[in-house]
Amino acid sequence: MGFDLVLFGGTGDLAWRKLMPALFQAFRHGTLPAGGRIIAVARDTLSDEQYRRLMYERFDKVELAKRPTPDEFARFAQLLHYLRMDLSQPQDYAQLATLLQARQADTVVMYVATAPSLFTTVCEQIAAAGLNGPATRVVLEKPLGHDLASNQAINATLRRVLREEQVFRIDHYLGKPSVQNLFAMRFGNALFEPLWRRETIANIEITIAEDLGVETRGAFYDQTGALRDMVQNHALQLLCAIGMEPPINASANAIRDEKLKVLQSLKPWDETTIGQNVIRGQYTAGMVHGQPVPGYREEKGVAPNSNTETFVALRTEIMNWRWAGVPFYLRTGKRLAERSAQIMVHFRPVPHHIFKTPADAANRLVIHLQPQDGLDLRLLAQGATQAQSAETILTPASLNLDFTQRFGAERVGAYERLLLDVIAGRLNLFVRSDEQEEAWRWVEPILEHWRRDPTGPRPYAAGTWGPSAASAMIARDGFCWSEEV
Ligand code: BG6
Repeated sequence: MGFDLVLFGGTGDLAWRKLMPALFQAFRHGTLPAGGRIIAVARDTLSDEQYRRLMYERFDKVELAKRPTPDEFARFAQLLHYLRMDLSQPQDYAQLATLLQARQADTVVMYVATAPSLFTTVCEQIAAAGLNGPATRVVLEKPLGHDLASNQAINATLRRVLREEQVFRIDHYLGKPSVQNLFAMRFGNALFEPLWRRETIANIEITIAEDLGVETRGAFYDQTGALRDMVQNHALQLLCAIGMEPPINASANAIRDEKLKVLQSLKPWDETTIGQNVIRGQYTAGMVHGQPVPGYREEKGVAPNSNTETFVALRTEIMNWRWAGVPFYLRTGKRLAERSAQIMVHFRPVPHHIFKTPADAANRLVIHLQPQDGLDLRLLAQGATQAQSAETILTPASLNLDFTQRFGAERVGAYERLLLDVIAGRLNLFVRSDEQEEAWRWVEPILEHWRRDPTGPRPYAAGTWGPSAASAMIARDGFCWSEEV
């Protein structure tokens, strides 16, 4: 009957900020299956009631429209339970087993939202306590490892104690509504697919820009950096979604097989291409939205001489028949000018101009991920009526689909969507071990190169778009980042 969702790291940042609010939204939307139980697990000694009160207070930090009314919270709180556990202690898992076995839920979700160093311990202990049966699904947050070897070691442990179908490696970018819509656009419409290739597309630009700094995660981030935190997972998953072949059907493995092929086709690195095509940066003090902010090295938890990158821009290619020769530019960074994420597909210009057209005004399709999500197709049109004898001058004009306006503000958020998928056992939007390993294999030479490179990241002032070398890199191909147009 129903589901049990055990949330390891139940008093952690992710639980408060993302997971509990997402579960509440699903509850409010009536999509959380009935008869469920949420068991938050952490080291603190708390009663169910104390945990619920803490949870309620945390909703103050959630945007207004997503906060529960007292009455809604009282109903939601009935699902919430708390269990104190020391995750290194086998007897504590026995206690969890007793709690779960008393109820025999149809589905048991173990959401491991702890420090990454605990992932394997928790999975091994779950198995040792006999909690890895077919009803169990384990959700693992990123980062899963810090390089290929550590990722492979984690996956090997997982394979010993769980079947691949029981493991839900979460990449919340796949849960974003616009990523779903990217799949819908590409594989639900006949319009784009014939154009989706090297003959028509000049280049593709993927940007994930954040205006925030490292917030309270300085110590973690300093060990991680933007390549591991954003490129190895989120940015590469977006690249897969844009570059993959149409899967044979919409099943998880069909989708994941195609994403894997993209990762396997990425142009391998060598010392020269890394030097020329990968730019790393680190923010210094500056102004973001008119407010002064400190530099990365002044952030709490960050080493004063840190060489950790907070910005990466790179150029790659997918080496297959569809994409050979088309540059894919990926860019992500913290403390940039604004928070915006989008994929821009730049089409080639017409082969022969008979009308007067502004420079750089070829067709362009933008998939906006945030802050708004939607599609924007730039066409060239004849604007103001021109005198008959005058030369025809074309102007860029947009066909615009704002998903929030079109489908309503109550759209399902990434974590809400992914949590419901786990409960329902849908793996489509989760990452398979071979995909993840391939992504690590591809970024590893860059990590290795940086380890040996004494020059460190290039500084950029907070509130800008990163080091100028990122613009120079793309300019070499005759292109520029979109905000520079
Ligand atoms: C997380 C990274 O995976 O994604 C964070 O660890 C980053 O550093 C976050 O801020 C960005 O997510 P979103 O959904 O706000 O773009």
